[in-house]
Amino acid sequence: MNIQWYPGHMTKARRAMEEDVKLVDLVIELVDARAPFSSRNPDIDQLAKGKARMVLLNKADLADGESCARWTRWFEDQGICVVKIDARNRGTLKAVQAKVGEACREKIERDRRRGILNRPIRAMVVGIPNVGKSTFINSFAGKASAKTGNRPGVTKGNQWIRLNKTLELLDTPGILWPRFEDQQAGLRLALIGSINDEILNKEELAAELIGFLKQTFPRALKERYGLEEQEDAYCCLEEIARKRSCLAKGGQPDLPRAAALLLDDFRSGRLGAITLEQPKDLPGSQGEGEEKTGSREEASDGRA
Ligand code: G4P
Repeated sequence: MNIQWYPGHMTKARRAMEEDVKLVDLVIELVDARAPFSSRNPDIDQLAKGKARMVLLNKADLADGESCARWTRWFEDQGICVVKIDARNRGTLKAVQAKVGEACREKIERDRRRGILNRPIRAMVVGIPNVGKSTFINSFAGKASAKTGNRPGVTKGNQWIRLNKTLELLDTPGILWPRFEDQQAGLRLALIGSINDEILNKEELAAELIGFLKQTFPRALKERYGLEEQEDAYCCLEEIARKRSCLAKGGQPDLPRAAALLLDDFRSGRLGAITLEQPKDLPGSQGEGEEKTGSREEASDGRA
């Protein structure tokens, strides 16, 4: 499947990010827990160079728990603090505040040595579109937050949200471009709904998803649609159309409708908690996370 990307305002986004990042101590990067690598910006290490880092595995409510644990280890191995969250659920965000101190330990120590005490950490949230940045900022800042007003040097329009004595957040998230040069990543981004569906062939996308599920989470299709073994992904889609009464005139299976239904079921978690990629899939990986941990993954290579 050939996914065409339209980087559009990439240069503008990059410049805005480069300016904003100068103002902060900590870069909080949101990734989608269902595709933590594909939903990252490829240049983030360069853009956030010299800053304390934190990765939030967002939408963890939709991702497989064991895969989240593997990705957490993978990021931590690179010295990046990780918290898995559901940005809509404030309860899951408590751990974020706790990790801020850990992520910024060096800066806090440096300040202390210079006699600077209690200076709040300044942080910004970044991520590709639709990863949950606004939801996170709203939940994390909550009602208690107060905007502290414009400050010299802050990009026009940006404001700081004071969360508490120790943390201030730039109110506007940094929007990053996704990994557009990589077709495999493009496919996964399309599956999680990060790419506008209008430009995609939903039937092809659904067929890709079926292929992945049959290999990696075989129970998902059986449990949701009562699907019996079908070799061909398009036969499966026809079967889903019939089972779900997605029928066109003359009683033929309406494949576009069945595809939309399947994708919607996947994206909303009705097929179960499913992760599309594993650390071991990455180019140059040493096989991290290769251990087989569940029956669902026994036949898996974890790829979509
Ligand atoms: P963005 O600023 O990064 O572009 O993303 P935004 O917060 O707008 O979130 C994009 C969509 O993802 C929203 O759904 C939001 O509710 C959903 N979302 C964000 N975080 C989570 C999460 O942790 N778990 C789940 N399951 N969903 C999450 P939407 O359908 O576009 O909007 P709405 O109907 O929720 O308002």
